[in-house]
Amino acid sequence: MNHFPYRDGELFAEGVPLQRIAAEVGTPVYCYSSAALAANYRAFAEAFAGQRATICYAVKANSNLAVIRTLARLGAGADVLSEGELRRALRAGVAPGNIVFSGVGKSPDELALALEAGIGQINVESEPEIEALNELAAAKGVRAPVAIRVNPDVDAGTHEKITTGIKENKFGIDFDRARAVAAHAGGLPGIDIVGAAVHIGSQLTDLAPFSDAFRLLSELVGGLREDGHDIRRLDLGGGLGIRYQDETPPTPKEYAAMIARATDGLDLEIVLEPGRAITGDAGVLLTRVLYVKKGVSRTFVIVDAAMNDLMRPSLYDAHHAIIPAIEPAPDADEAVVDVVGPVCETGDFLARDRAMPVVHSQDLLAIGAAGAYGAVMASTYNSRPLVAEVLVKDGDFAVIRPRQSYDDMLGAEKMPDWLEDAQPLPSKGVA
Ligand code: LLP
Repeated sequence: MNHFPYRDGELFAEGVPLQRIAAEVGTPVYCYSSAALAANYRAFAEAFAGQRATICYAVKANSNLAVIRTLARLGAGADVLSEGELRRALRAGVAPGNIVFSGVGKSPDELALALEAGIGQINVESEPEIEALNELAAAKGVRAPVAIRVNPDVDAGTHEKITTGIKENKFGIDFDRARAVAAHAGGLPGIDIVGAAVHIGSQLTDLAPFSDAFRLLSELVGGLREDGHDIRRLDLGGGLGIRYQDETPPTPKEYAAMIARATDGLDLEIVLEPGRAITGDAGVLLTRVLYVKKGVSRTFVIVDAAMNDLMRPSLYDAHHAIIPAIEPAPDADEAVVDVVGPVCETGDFLARDRAMPVVHSQDLLAIGAAGAYGAVMASTYNSRPLVAEVLVKDGDFAVIRPRQSYDDMLGAEKMPDWLEDAQPLPSKGVA
């Protein structure tokens, strides 16, 4: 179901017109739908109802505390990859036992905090990390619940920058070495090997690479059990894609059925780490048209959002639908335009060569499927404050992160002693 429908010619998020949010909060603003978050989470949970599965929402996709809590209240755990994300998950109310800590470079401080908090699983990705974790855990007199993340050398067939499971990638322990690494780790006093883990990439729209990787992982479980490890869990990562344009990603049901086949007979708890599939289509970025500039060869729709607010088009050439908040007439004129932001880079675009209804200065536009890897990847490049985030529920909405103020931005910086100067600097004019 689309939670951002046109109603009587106006675009809504659930029961709230997006024009109202823009008028009250300003633009650009990320706007999320609680109902969409819940529907996406439930679709996943229901698909796995027949399996022993824990859904640990990948907080990196959208780490706003209100978003995490919305999902935690529905039963989601969390997959985190930094101390910041771990703190967010805990603050949002996720039970520590339902938190998985992934990531190739967890620092000793981060590992210590994870042990302190008593989280459910730490996915280790290298031998030196295992040694570090063992020392910390042994010093505390505890055994860290560890899953060995392997690199299965399976190409996910997705964008190069979000492929993680081929041997050229930095992630995971080489599949062929996993048993040897586990044999060593299993003998360490601070390590309890509870499972194996894999994550081969993001925005996968085909089940085949998943299935290849999961079958390999299932084989590994057999091997690890033969070696005497009590393997209870299989963490299959995230990566299920969504529809941005004309992709036809598998449904959670199809994904779950494939997993049931790949792990048949293993009697394991399955851990899943979906991010994009939960929050991706549950959010839009609202932006206002500043100017329409007709160049010699192209028309530029210059909007107030930019690459610093939504990096995906610049970084991955990603396609995001862009639609006006006022529904265009069916016979409205279309034009092929570049939708660009105010940032001083040619790479600052939100869409290129996009056929869309003709728009004018001050029109409000919604950039679709921006709920995952949108706000979390934003920066203040060009000294543009971080934009606001809003969560809609039925006919209400709340600002869940206010727009960063210029005082917040500038006040965070400090002058060193030698530059402290109460006197105004002499003006030489513009050279
Ligand atoms: N688990 C692990 C270990 C991950 O590295 C990731 C994503 C996930 C789960 C969640 O994957 P998802 O279900 O969201 O595909 N910024 C990129 C995506 C980077 C994904 C990084 N890892 C983008 O905007 O497309």
